[in-house]
Amino acid sequence: MFIPPRYVLAPYLPTPHNVVEGMLRLADVKASDTVYDLGCGDGRLVISAAETRGARGLGVDIEPYWVEQSRLNASAAGVSHLARFEQADALDLDLSPATVVFAYLVHWSTRLVAQHFVKSARPGTRLVSHSFPIELGPTRSESVVAEDGTSRIIHLFIAPSSS
Ligand SMILES: C[S@@+](CC[C@H](N)C(=O)[O-])C[C@H]1O[C@@H](n2cnc3c(N)ncnc32)[C@H](O)[C@@H]1O
Repeated sequence: MFIPPRYVLAPYLPTPHNVVEGMLRLADVKASDTVYDLGCGDGRLVISAAETRGARGLGVDIEPYWVEQSRLNASAAGVSHLARFEQADALDLDLSPATVVFAYLVHWSTRLVAQHFVKSARPGTRLVSHSFPIELGPTRSESVVAEDGTSRIIHLFIAPSSS
């Protein structure tokens, strides 16, 4: 089915694997969490959360190709029972089931996704952004040196009880 995106939020660019681990650590992902990735690409964030923490997750991508690749990768990793993938526009997704939300987009689209997060996520839900700041309030940020030697900043924001 063709789902027209409201916006193409970012081109495909994978998060390096050690930065994925840094994002899981910053969000303190546990087996009891439900993680969402808004624009999941090859599914690596949701798959790693399942493989290394036993967490359930949902990755969505606007491109059917990446949804299919993610499902194949989850199957190869033996975590299809935990990691689901669907074609959807990230800005239409109900975030209320999530306890952790990941995004690796660009500056303007991180802002749009952050606005959606505030409206849709439950209080206490963690939002972790790779590279681009979350301009919603106080965040905790860390630097991770990626496999390619570049330094990446990752940002954590926690939805307050009033959102
Ligand atoms: C920079 S990649 C990040 C991939 C993955 N999250 C990671 O960190 O490795 C951004 C992804 O967002 C997807 N995307 C772009 N616009 C979207 C939209 N409106 N809804 C859902 N996904 C979208 C792209 O197809 C791409 O796979």
